[in-house]
Amino acid sequence: MYSDKVYEHFMCPQNVRSLPFADAKGSAGDPACGDSVTFYIMVQNDVIEDISYLVFGCVGSIATSSMTSVLAKGKTLEEAMKISEQDIIDALDGLPEDKVHCSNLGVSALREAIMEYRSKEEKSIKNK
Ligand code: FES
Repeated sequence: MYSDKVYEHFMCPQNVRSLPFADAKGSAGDPACGDSVTFYIMVQNDVIEDISYLVFGCVGSIATSSMTSVLAKGKTLEEAMKISEQDIIDALDGLPEDKVHCSNLGVSALREAIMEYRSKEEKSIKNK
């Protein structure tokens, strides 16, 4: 069974929308179940000022994506990079055993977005 927190984030996902002018984006998917998510970040002074995502998937992937966005918003890139799957599971008061892998989607997509942002930043510094 899902926790109340999981239902809360599934029924009312936080920060879900596209962010057309995002500074960077990252995607992750699980070929075994077909679920996928793309995260978008807006960064200012190394802090994630805004974050959003579009997710296609199960209750677990929607709730974990929502919680990933909540935990990452307002964090520095370094802090956000350290958000783990276990952090997401704990913040949701647990996940059923067969849904633990769902926590990987949002975390992986967020890390991809951060890496893309850093890569763009490095290129722009080199081009100056
Ligand atoms: S069932 Fe695979 S991510 Fe949710």
